[in-house]
Amino acid sequence: MLDLKRQYRQLHNEVMGAVGHVLETQQFILGESVAAFEKAAAEQLGVAHAVGSSSGTDALWLALAAAGIGPGMKVVTTPFSFFASTSAILRAGAAPLLADIEPTSFNLSPAAVEAVLDGPLGADVRAILPVHLYGQIADWTSFSRIGKERGLKLIEDAAQAWGAQWMTPKGKAVKAGALGDAAAFSFYPTKNLSAAGDAGMVTTNSDEIAERARMLRQHGMRRRYYHDEIGWNTRMDGFQGAILQVKLKYIDEWNQLRRTVAKRYHALFHATGLVEAGPYPVRGVVLPHEVHGTRHAWHQYVIRTSRRDGLRQFLTERKIGSEIYYPVPLHLQGALKFLGYAEGSFPEAERAAHEVLALPIFPELREDEQQTVVAAIAEFLS
Ligand SMILES: Cc1ncc(COP(=O)(O)O)c(C=O)c1O
Repeated sequence: MLDLKRQYRQLHNEVMGAVGHVLETQQFILGESVAAFEKAAAEQLGVAHAVGSSSGTDALWLALAAAGIGPGMKVVTTPFSFFASTSAILRAGAAPLLADIEPTSFNLSPAAVEAVLDGPLGADVRAILPVHLYGQIADWTSFSRIGKERGLKLIEDAAQAWGAQWMTPKGKAVKAGALGDAAAFSFYPTKNLSAAGDAGMVTTNSDEIAERARMLRQHGMRRRYYHDEIGWNTRMDGFQGAILQVKLKYIDEWNQLRRTVAKRYHALFHATGLVEAGPYPVRGVVLPHEVHGTRHAWHQYVIRTSRRDGLRQFLTERKIGSEIYYPVPLHLQGALKFLGYAEGSFPEAERAAHEVLALPIFPELREDEQQTVVAAIAEFLS
């Protein structure tokens, strides 16, 4: 699926220098390397503040808590995401409400969100948490309108979307992380911009949210050992800040290479004659696409096929990596049964969970490797 060693070989000397510098300064928790990364990251994203944290999961909690989301409040999000998108809402003390996805983008459906907001449970909703799944921006044209009309906070789960962009109606490109009231990124090692361990970050244009996030990530301290609120320990460590700062210089180039890989997959699949228009597959494959007016970060290249499980087994036997993001929608997870949803609650998410298959994608993936992947898929499906 992913060969991180190819990237590391190119960066070895720079990364070792950055790690050595942290050892020289002995600033292991936050410190100058994290502050420098936060500054450079905020500049690159075009956002006022970036606050490093210890993981994407913690960053989601931190973004929600710093934006004032807590007990007695509800947050609407998607059932088709990584577990943390929902568990972070619970960790913040709020209640998640789920709404179905759009079948073409796999992202939270604005129409489904509006139906939830207008329904019997919509009264205490204070925020919407769209996920930019696979690196594709959620429908921000609609979510910014809904947020404004109803006075709701918008918290982005941008864990998979470093470098993704959305275009305002006036034609201005805005990056994931700079769209909502606050956003959370993950730098888990498989992400487009990745740390050498767990790390995450909150971004916001609000001075107030940034200040609260900085306070909450250090046990609610503004002054050392004086605790204004119950926060938590969710700080980024110095090694991660230093390594991320090195990688930040290359991320645009790597994302460009991901675009090239995605384009090559498109061309190779079209040449097989197996591509179907979708949104649902019949006998062939439905390809991912870039929503008009946005820039996909191509964190994942996810196809849809009705014979997904058989195909995956066929690929595994040929030592070709693939992955299912995600096999069980969140409303059907054992830990979330108490939310009261059941099979059939979100038909689009449930169907997607049976049909999606993520193929290898990373900047250094070679054309001959992609040819092997597509040839194997074509062999199975035809
Ligand atoms: C959509 C989404 N949200 C949240 C997270 C949580 O990030 P982390 O693994 O860094 O805690 C991830 C990463 O796995 C993710 O993909």
